Amino acid sequence: MHFLKPIIGVLVAYLLIKIGVPFLGSLSHPGTWPVVPTAVMKMYLFFIIAGAFVASTFSEEGYNGLIGPIVDLYGNPAKAKLRLGAVAAVSLLGTWVAYQYVKPSFDAPVELRSVHPAPPSSANMWGKSFELQTLKNPFREDKANFAKNVEEGGIVYYKNCFYCHGDKQDGKGHFYSAFNPIPANFVDVGTIAMLTESFVFWRVGTGGPGLPSEGAPWATAMPVWHTMLSEEEVWKAVMFIYEQSGVQPRVTATVAEKK
Ligand code: HEC
Repeated sequence: MHFLKPIIGVLVAYLLIKIGVPFLGSLSHPGTWPVVPTAVMKMYLFFIIAGAFVASTFSEEGYNGLIGPIVDLYGNPAKAKLRLGAVAAVSLLGTWVAYQYVKPSFDAPVELRSVHPAPPSSANMWGKSFELQTLKNPFREDKANFAKNVEEGGIVYYKNCFYCHGDKQDGKGHFYSAFNPIPANFVDVGTIAMLTESFVFWRVGTGGPGLPSEGAPWATAMPVWHTMLSEEEVWKAVMFIYEQSGVQPRVTATVAEKK
């Protein structure tokens, strides 16, 4: 039972740091229970385990006592089953530790997220700069071809957007449940109905990566469409989502007065 000695030594040292040190602290500051930081704990434990190993393998007898049972387990044909169990246990433990490190966490971020952050004054798309304050949908003016343009926007929508934003424009397309945050629900008055078309044009054009930092602790899955669609296609798709979900874009006072 030689190998139990260093293990007990390490355990005692651990308890001394875990409980003994805070206890001493509580004596000088009654009513408190200071904790030893994990990083310090890890450092001490590393030296304690290494020290215990060195100390107990100093003599031939100590070395055999510590290493003997391990060599026996791996070399003794009579312990084949036990060996298989030990290998499986070590592998499973390694797998579990690795899984704990890499498994994704879906907890809400501590920071608050602004779903509709203030847009930048200008945005770069298709290699040029757009002034978002004054930008208007060029196809709105074209009353004669309105139905045709909306229909073309519908084709863009069904080829590119509907998988996420859904047939009913409610943000529940085929893939929606895989995303956090889920795709925007256009029928909800809290999304495109309260936004100007230029804001929506910018959101569609630059997608999740285009959001300024206050909108971004949750990386949204909305793709960057200006790299995949033309400017006209994005404008038409924007017009389509308004028509199809039965809401009107928000207009600024000056635009409304001119109408
Ligand atoms: C991969 C899934 C996916 C696809 C495809 C997709 N979107 Fe999105 N979309 C999202 C997500 C996720 C958001 C972010 C919702 C949020 O920020 O809460 C979003 C946000 C938006 C918004 C912002 C709404 C708002 O209230 O700010 C608009 C507009 C939009 N999408 C339009 C489109 C259009 C048009 C297309 C097709 C050209 C499209 N989306 C394709 C996932 C997608």
